[in-house]
Amino acid sequence: MKKYCLGNWKMNQSLEEVKAFSKDFQESSNDLYIGIAPQAIHIPYLLENTQIFIGSQNCSEHKSGAFTGELGPQFLNELGAKFSLIGHSERRQLYKETTESCIEKIKNALSNDLLAVYCIGETLQEFEQNQTKEVLKNQLLPLLETFSINDQDNIVIAYEPVWAIGTGKVPTLDIISDVTSYIHDLCLQYKQDYSVVYGGSVKPANIKDISQIPSVQGVLVGGASLKAESFGALCRAF
Ligand code: 13P
Repeated sequence: MKKYCLGNWKMNQSLEEVKAFSKDFQESSNDLYIGIAPQAIHIPYLLENTQIFIGSQNCSEHKSGAFTGELGPQFLNELGAKFSLIGHSERRQLYKETTESCIEKIKNALSNDLLAVYCIGETLQEFEQNQTKEVLKNQLLPLLETFSINDQDNIVIAYEPVWAIGTGKVPTLDIISDVTSYIHDLCLQYKQDYSVVYGGSVKPANIKDISQIPSVQGVLVGGASLKAESFGALCRAF
């Protein structure tokens, strides 16, 4: 299966920092799919000045029209963007995105040739109450009931425990392995097998161990993707 090293810059990076990253980042996407999702305003600059895949942090479920502030997949594709994150926990929590709206966004991304990186994950409370698999199942079933084996190469599932994002806390390797294997098994029940990446406090210090888990096909990284040096180190671990 293809491996992915994806960066989510969230609402960070000044133009100067974007320029410095582009100058210093030496890796290029070959066997490994290297991608960065910057703030949308920086997509054109990064497309012109890097050798990696550039994507968006969100996209609209609508084609075009009166949707102030939204990003249409058709227009992202037109620019040369190649993927979109969909359903990141910050969007689910802060902007009330639902699994149902995420499925519509994925449909729209796929019809416009964008790889959809569908983010799922449990909160700390759900983790502590042993509800992780139930939560993930609820987030995954609508996907598995909507898409098919034909969409296999156009969707990646990002498992990001909400409590591991930006906290420095990482689940044990056994937990990451168990949960990502569960995701693969569930997908296989629907005759689908998507690449599954892990996200949540991935750093150069823990990438070697995480990248060696057989059920993990890559990572989705926040903080450690902001600097060329640390993101490069993560890419080289694959
Ligand atoms: P951190 O790597 O900063 O924990 O963020 C993870 C994330 O939210 C990527 O989408």
